[in-house]
Amino acid sequence: MKRLWIGFAAVLVVSFSVLGWIGTRIYQEMPPIPERVMTAGGQVVIPAGAIGEGQNVWQSMGGMQVGSVWGHGSYLAPDWTADWLHREAMFTLNEWARAEHSKDFEGLTAEQKAGLTGRLTEAYRTNTYDAATKTIVISEARARAFAHCLEHFSGVFRGGNVAYALPKGTIRDDERMRKFAAFLFWTAWSASTNRPGDRLTYTHNWPHEPLVGNRPSGESVMWTGVSILMLLAGICALVWWYAAQPAEEMGETPKEDPLGSWRATASQLATLKYFWVVALLFLVQICVGIVAAHYGVEGGGFYGIDLSEILPYAVTRTWHVQLGIFWIATAWLAAGLFIGPLVSGVEPKGQRLGVNVLFLALLVVVVGSLTGQWMSIRNKLSDATSFLWGHQGYEYVDLGRGWQLMLFAGC
Ligand code: HEM
Repeated sequence: MKRLWIGFAAVLVVSFSVLGWIGTRIYQEMPPIPERVMTAGGQVVIPAGAIGEGQNVWQSMGGMQVGSVWGHGSYLAPDWTADWLHREAMFTLNEWARAEHSKDFEGLTAEQKAGLTGRLTEAYRTNTYDAATKTIVISEARARAFAHCLEHFSGVFRGGNVAYALPKGTIRDDERMRKFAAFLFWTAWSASTNRPGDRLTYTHNWPHEPLVGNRPSGESVMWTGVSILMLLAGICALVWWYAAQPAEEMGETPKEDPLGSWRATASQLATLKYFWVVALLFLVQICVGIVAAHYGVEGGGFYGIDLSEILPYAVTRTWHVQLGIFWIATAWLAAGLFIGPLVSGVEPKGQRLGVNVLFLALLVVVVGSLTGQWMSIRNKLSDATSFLWGHQGYEYVDLGRGWQLMLFAGC
């Protein structure tokens, strides 16, 4: 056992050291969040604080459950960064093409197209962030592209869009919409701007957008290959090691079933309700999964009945993913509580009370967080309250931060 404990401790220390180191590097290397974005002529396009507040808007509507930014989450389409970047690029290219060749960009010759995309690539990849004033300076053309994208995305998020299963009024007022647009602009800016002194963008040329030179770098291709090979090699090594072990001696089979004389203790009986709840959560998860599947085809309907007002797609998807986590966690906890007295042969004092209190705490977190998510997506909470008690906007960690801390304490 001693050898195994040492091995276990070594794995923990090494893994958490690597995670800690990489986590610190991410923090140090993240793209700067400017205080404002201005044109060269001095017009403020994005005022102070709008980008961070726009991120809160994004999170409160379910964020990664209604698409993704920077391809995060499980890359649920559409990727709004890619969409914003492409729309900005096409707007500018069309403006230049019309001014210089009296045609849309698509109608140009390959040579003319190459000339304009070359100019666009240079303009977009040049880093115009000034760390001293925390300001990004953009061209007048890019400011017009911003206004164009703002109008398009207002149509999608304020007016609703069936293809994206977004109901009307996903964002309800102009000010929040503008902040959200500021956030999307910033994700697109950092995806297309070179790091200072580098030839790669802050997001390592992601997402793919050849119009501004976003193509996978040699390093990305190589390290993707290396990491897959390392993973396969690790799995093979494990299988090899396991197969090379001498066959284990089986002890003598007991004459009587060791659990034959077992009688459920009071705390074990108290865990029964956990398993009923697991079954119920599982059932609800399947039901919302079915509704989410219909939205995938019908946009906002369930067999033609419009449910999207009371149960938007973002809610069904959030609940589907959350309930999966909740019933698995509940079953895990219940199994642990049930097995404890069985293995130790001891029923600790107050164990039944503990099991019941934990059950109540779980109910509060499950019901509270699911309700908070619904309220957040339905615009019933302020963006700041939403982060704490509504929706954090990160797929799989959707529940408000307050609920998350309570769940962590409970588990
Ligand atoms: C009959 C049962 C189920 C149905 C009809 C169903 C339906 C769906 C649908 C339609 C989606 C995609 C939603 C979208 O992206 O638009 C989805 C995603 C998902 N489902 Fe289910 N599901 C079922 C059971 C389960 C179970 C039992 C689990 C886990 C315990 C589960 C976990 C997930 C997860 C984690 C996702 C998100 C995957 C991702 O983001 O790529 N589902 N489900």
